[in-house]
Amino acid sequence: MTDYPIDMATKPDVSAFFDEATNTISYIVKDPASDHCAVVDSVMDIDYAAGRITYDHADQLIAEIERRGLTLDWIIETHVHADHLSAAPYIQQKLGGKIGIGSKIMVVQDTFGKIFNEGTEFQRDGSQFDALFEDGDTYKVGEMTAFAMYTPGHTPACMVHVMGEAAFVGDTLFMPDGGSARADFPGGDAGELYDSIQKVLALPDAMRLFMCHDYGPNGRDIQWETTVGEEKAHNIHVGGRTTREDFVKMRTERDATLAVPKLIIPSLQVNMRAGEVPRDEHGNPVLKVPVNGL
Ligand SMILES: [Fe+2]
Repeated sequence: MTDYPIDMATKPDVSAFFDEATNTISYIVKDPASDHCAVVDSVMDIDYAAGRITYDHADQLIAEIERRGLTLDWIIETHVHADHLSAAPYIQQKLGGKIGIGSKIMVVQDTFGKIFNEGTEFQRDGSQFDALFEDGDTYKVGEMTAFAMYTPGHTPACMVHVMGEAAFVGDTLFMPDGGSARADFPGGDAGELYDSIQKVLALPDAMRLFMCHDYGPNGRDIQWETTVGEEKAHNIHVGGRTTREDFVKMRTERDATLAVPKLIIPSLQVNMRAGEVPRDEHGNPVLKVPVNGL
């Protein structure tokens, strides 16, 4: 197993921004020792019925970073999201910073390049991103060392990003009463997801975990922060003594009942391009709908 550079003594300042339209939580993570920060999983607003894109949610993050006078070092995507569009290029254009994702993005680009019948101008080498992380790769947010943990299962390119005593779990785990993310997208695998979740649960019990999504199960208020210890004890899908076999069976049965995410078609086309909207031969932004392709 990879030896990760865990540093529980570094306590970053984490600000969360909940997006009601997609139940996504975006984060600004500030290095405690400097005025540098990272953004994790930003959201671009879309009215899909109208084909209209706006930036109200991303503008909240930008305004907060500007208000506090922070320098943005990194714009992190935990994975290619299927339920919301990333605002990474919009934020980068306003504030700078490098856009990073897992190196297995190439697998995702290959899979969805075929499904969306992309031409040769769509590069499948991850070159739309500024950095491609391998398991255990480190990077700096100011003086704080962050690292990426390879956690496939929900998608082949998923990574959990750990910054001091805060881990951004993407779509591996949900809050303890929400369980885990689905594993039925192309390239997803419930067994791999179980193994990845075990990697997260092997982090120190006091590690703070920040969710990418919350749906407020059973009518509770939206929450996004828990700890490894809480997940180990109480997660409804993997807590206690759940075996890999039990998990795969539960996950597979449950995934068969889930609807396709409302924004999967625009999300994949944009997010596999690091948040850029594809363009037609005239240079106009345009999205495709493959019929019976997904
Ligand atoms: Fe996801």
